[in-house]
Amino acid sequence: MSPPVRTARKRHYLMCRPTFFAVDYAINPWMDPTRPVDPARAMRQWEHLVDLYRELGHTVSLVEPRPDLPDMVFAANAASVVDNRVLVSRFKYPERAAEARAYRQWFSTRAFRRVATAGHVNEGQGDILPAGRILLAGTGFRTEPAAHAEVQALLGLPVVTLTLTDPRFYHLDTALTVLGDTEVMYYPGAFDPAGRATLNALFPDALLARREEAEIFALNSVSDGCNVVLPAAAERLASRLEDRGFRPIGVEMTEFRKAGGGAKCCTLDLHGCVKSDRIRLHRGAVASNGPRQAA
Ligand code: ARG
Repeated sequence: MSPPVRTARKRHYLMCRPTFFAVDYAINPWMDPTRPVDPARAMRQWEHLVDLYRELGHTVSLVEPRPDLPDMVFAANAASVVDNRVLVSRFKYPERAAEARAYRQWFSTRAFRRVATAGHVNEGQGDILPAGRILLAGTGFRTEPAAHAEVQALLGLPVVTLTLTDPRFYHLDTALTVLGDTEVMYYPGAFDPAGRATLNALFPDALLARREEAEIFALNSVSDGCNVVLPAAAERLASRLEDRGFRPIGVEMTEFRKAGGGAKCCTLDLHGCVKSDRIRLHRGAVASNGPRQAA
């Protein structure tokens, strides 16, 4: 049987240049402040990712990096965004807490319908991943279970809670990639038995990854429904994706692995907000995105 024909959906991504990226502290098992990051290499890898997204036809917006926030490059953690509604994150560790304000400023000076700030610890798209009309929500290390109810209330989509158990896979997006509205790939060993059962019930045909694939951040991949941007070294997964009609594109994000991140961590998907006429990119625009008024 020939694989299904996949259609790429245009995306709008928010990213942050790794100008000040460094591993200065350790808040996950990948981070070792004695092991230096190569800033030039990190910049090349990140710029290549941005160029690739633009070549694929996606829009990339940039938030200004801050010198005191070395993890700010991991834009995925900044917010949950669905249908023009934004829930700005509340970070677990004080080292990253001020990122919320920097990103909130970006959101509140654009025309989103609603911008709220999380009351509970919530690390945005690191843990809350839209899959069609549901939100897959990780907990166990960062985002608190109470945040899941808050996300559901604010973003208006049902939340499926998944508990992570392996500290190396501390955010949901290190253990699971949403490939399309009803398709995911994940590493089962990162979840508790209830989480595995839930994933198996929701996605019985999911592509299952191996531990060594999860360890190179192959599940920290970015899909537009057709193109799947994943680590170049994840060759087995790439060929499984091809079998299913996806178009895998290998990238090197190895410098970011030193901080516990990959391509997805650097990419906040402004889910459902792609139409550029609905996001005013000039400062001070806070107009509502409701039905357009006749001019
Ligand atoms: N050093 C960052 C942290 O520990 C890495 C964040 C990775 N982001 C992600 N979406 N998984 O918070």
